[in-house]
Amino acid sequence: MNTMADVISLDRFRTAQRRGKPTPGTTLAFTGGKGGVGKSFVAANAAVWMAKHDMKTLTVDGDFAMADLNLLFGLAPERSILDVLRGAPVAEVLESAHGIDLLPGLNGNSMLANLDAAQAASIYVEIESMRDHYDATVIDAPAGLSDVGIEMCALATHVVLVLSPEPTSLADAYACLKALTARVGLDRAFVVVNRSDSESDAKDAFARLEALVSRFLGVELCELPYVPSDPRASTACALGSPAILQYPDAPSSRALSSMLSAVVEMSPSTFNHDAFVVPSHEDFTRTASLEDVR
Ligand SMILES: Nc1ncnc2c1ncn2[C@@H]1O[C@H](COP(=O)(O)OP(=O)(O)O)[C@@H](O)[C@H]1O
Ligand SMILES: [Mg+2]
Repeated sequence: MNTMADVISLDRFRTAQRRGKPTPGTTLAFTGGKGGVGKSFVAANAAVWMAKHDMKTLTVDGDFAMADLNLLFGLAPERSILDVLRGAPVAEVLESAHGIDLLPGLNGNSMLANLDAAQAASIYVEIESMRDHYDATVIDAPAGLSDVGIEMCALATHVVLVLSPEPTSLADAYACLKALTARVGLDRAFVVVNRSDSESDAKDAFARLEALVSRFLGVELCELPYVPSDPRASTACALGSPAILQYPDAPSSRALSSMLSAVVEMSPSTFNHDAFVVPSHEDFTRTASLEDVR
């Protein structure tokens, strides 16, 4: 049975099918347990893909204190989310490039690394009020199980879990899903395997994650087309130019486009907003063993 949040989200995408784009407020959070799997790369390209498809797109660097999304867009912002915290209007902090607006974080800021609940909430309120002015909002969520990481996903209408085929990435992706389920009621997530050497490795990684999730968690996983390991993906990152603009015919760019088309086509509701609760700070009593993820 659909919850109210499901109904609202399905409505968004029914409208999307009519208009060819999501309704304002649609928010995709890219997350995953491990740094280096390509969350920021995938999020940056997702934002640009949406802008290319005529969607007014806001991009939020959710890794407030260790921000690097600006580098992938080739930007050196003067202002950041810290200015928003100090009272600046979000619209004055945004940086525009490649057709998107970026709300930048800061790299190496201890205040942003140690936000209290009220400070974090004030940032979420600003993001929520901004996103209704956009067709789509893309959040690059931080790695790990921090409160901000979990809450950034709770703001989203769609959670996209990014992992690589390595066992450690699988274990971390599982831990991330477990935290999102336990702490904010995630019931559905898209999954993309990035940096895979082959389709069969990617399929295998998804199957292992799904087996684990169906055994221990009640989360529905929606498999997306995988993104291959591709030297032009890392060259584009180094150049500060999104791969799908810089190298539109590169294998990773084509795969990103297929993956994002699949998100819009599959368009399920992925998040139960009614279940948004303050994280419990409960740690897990059992860590995933290598047996779980092999
Ligand atoms: N599909 C890919 N193929 C090759 N290299 C990739 C791919 N995706 C990401 N990378 C490389 O991995 C690096 C880390 O990616 P990033 O998006 O910053 O990871 P995360 O945000 O998960 O920490 C990038 O700078 C890029 O060079
Ligand atoms: Mg990142």
